[in-house]
Amino acid sequence: MEKNMERENIIKKLENELKNVKTKNDLATLKAEFLGKNGIVTNLSLKMKEIPNEEKKEYGKFLNEIKVLVLEKIEAKNTDIEKNELETKLNSEKIDITLPARRSLKGSIHPMTRIVEELEDLFVSMGYDVVSGPEIDTDLNCFTKLNLPAGHPARDAQDTFYLDDDYLLRPHTSPAQVRTMEANTLKEPIRIVCPGKVYRRDDDATHSHQFMQFEGLVVGENISLADLKGTLELFAKKLLGEKTKVRFRPSYFPFTEPSCEVDVTCFKCGGKGCSLCKQTGWIEVLGAGVVHPNVLRMSGYDPEKYTGFAFGPGIDRFAMFKYGITDIRQIYTNDIRFLEQFDRKDVE
Ligand code: DAH
Repeated sequence: MEKNMERENIIKKLENELKNVKTKNDLATLKAEFLGKNGIVTNLSLKMKEIPNEEKKEYGKFLNEIKVLVLEKIEAKNTDIEKNELETKLNSEKIDITLPARRSLKGSIHPMTRIVEELEDLFVSMGYDVVSGPEIDTDLNCFTKLNLPAGHPARDAQDTFYLDDDYLLRPHTSPAQVRTMEANTLKEPIRIVCPGKVYRRDDDATHSHQFMQFEGLVVGENISLADLKGTLELFAKKLLGEKTKVRFRPSYFPFTEPSCEVDVTCFKCGGKGCSLCKQTGWIEVLGAGVVHPNVLRMSGYDPEKYTGFAFGPGIDRFAMFKYGITDIRQIYTNDIRFLEQFDRKDVE
């Protein structure tokens, strides 16, 4: 009888205290209070030695019953706590499926990238390699090794962004010629194009501080001006249409001798004369020439054995013509409203 009372008291106490238990930590503390080293139930079992032998068995049974009950209740509470925790977590991570989905924006290929890819395809089909060079290059590669030593007056034609005495933002892709020849340690023939960004201190509707060039270099035995002419004619016709005519005018570049400037029949009027070509029927598109012996020699090619040609159009103009862009600066401001007009579906 007495034992029954005791058991009930213990269980009541446990149930009362369980009401205040909110977390697993609380529960662990409570468990220790009952079953820990100094716990209520543990202390009861210590009394075993005072119990007369003939009652020991029964006392053991009583102890065991209490232990089982206490453990059951604690385990039940533990399950409750876990269920609550899971519910709280699920509620806080609930996804509202009634929210409209975020629209994913579709990009389009930049008009310049498209022109570059078209030209790369053409030149690769003629056996050229496509190379790239750094946009920050040395004064040596950009000028000196292209036969423009320090103090050369032609340096003034390119208002350059110098970073320090030796490094600058490349003002043209021509240093790719030097880099390619120098990297080719076996001095084998070369056929490369190098598309890339170049930088100059210019800023108006037809000149940007940044624009794109597409350098070409061929070095080998018996390469002549005739090869250059044939190549550039193909280039112009492919990019601007079969009817395009090409005109070569003598010019001067320090890195080529002879040098020429190349005009094509006006993209807009086809050669009749209009405002774009200033009534001449022609538009200048690039500089080119036969590689100067000094340039070959400085990059380790023997000019007695090798000759070559090079060309360097600015290709923004082609994009402007092809896509009707009137201000070159729009090409570089990355305004999505401008760029999305050139989605492939719309223009081809
Ligand atoms: N680098 C020249 C410029 O930016 C263009 C050029 C002219 C490149 C003649 C060439 C060349 O490769 O042969 O004005």
